[in-house]
Amino acid sequence: EIAYYQNKFIDVDSPALPIDERGHQFGDGVYEYIRVYDGTPLFLDEHLDRLEKSAAEIKLTLPYRRDEITGIIYEGIKRSSLKEAAVYFQITRGIAPRNHSFPNVKAVFSMTVKKATIFTDEARTKGISVMLRQDERWANCFIKSLNLLPNVLSKQEAIEKGYDEAIFVHEDFVREGTSCNVFMVKDGTLYTPPATRHILHGITRKAVLDCAREYNIPVREQAINTTFFKNCDEAFITSTSIEIMPIYSIEDQILPKERPVTERLYSAYQNFYKQE
Ligand code: PDD
Repeated sequence: EIAYYQNKFIDVDSPALPIDERGHQFGDGVYEYIRVYDGTPLFLDEHLDRLEKSAAEIKLTLPYRRDEITGIIYEGIKRSSLKEAAVYFQITRGIAPRNHSFPNVKAVFSMTVKKATIFTDEARTKGISVMLRQDERWANCFIKSLNLLPNVLSKQEAIEKGYDEAIFVHEDFVREGTSCNVFMVKDGTLYTPPATRHILHGITRKAVLDCAREYNIPVREQAINTTFFKNCDEAFITSTSIEIMPIYSIEDQILPKERPVTERLYSAYQNFYKQE
């Protein structure tokens, strides 16, 4: 594994952050998380597009050009010597004496390249349990910002209550998980909440929708209430790290064990990175 902070590669455990870094004082920055399969980052362009969008939304000027960021990511993967890796990188508004208004300094890029978490077939067959949780986040969750306190607290609450994940709900409508998007299947149709400002526009979400359209699975991006969600035939979450993971229970509701649509979509998704 390897890390990068402000123009140079460093060891992941070496101290790097000046005390007046706006990333840790304000969470004033944006990030991306990319999965590397057999040495190649998947959906790199899509992640960089989203990064540029997030940065523009918070009026942050990126410290490097897009091709320079691409170069740093590839160099990091090379130096890590990892084939199956996860690249985390963030850009913060820089280092300046603590003051809420923007400083006139260059933004700071940091990155880690670490071993990817691989989920076993047993874990995927079992799936995960979820609870529903009131969404207390702000109104701009489509920005991949560093401010993740509600996500952290809700994930911890789920674990303490014996669940694997919390799904955010607003006025009885399902939104997304603490670090994933959510899908369900009813009577052969795939449903997912629409890509509004209230959820992250997941890159895995988009890829799964593309797979569904290619396989002629009817798709509806529409508001889903909790009753409809609990009475679905299949449900799953998506994210860069977990890909497609089935949900086996929604609070007290146990979902059916057969998951034909989820399985088809998961095998289709693997074609994005699997070699012949
Ligand atoms: N999380 N929704 C939220 C709130 C997320 O944090 C994430 C990603 C997603 C899924 O997006 P994508 O398919 O582009 O990974 C949805 C990343 C993995 C993280 O926080 O580490």
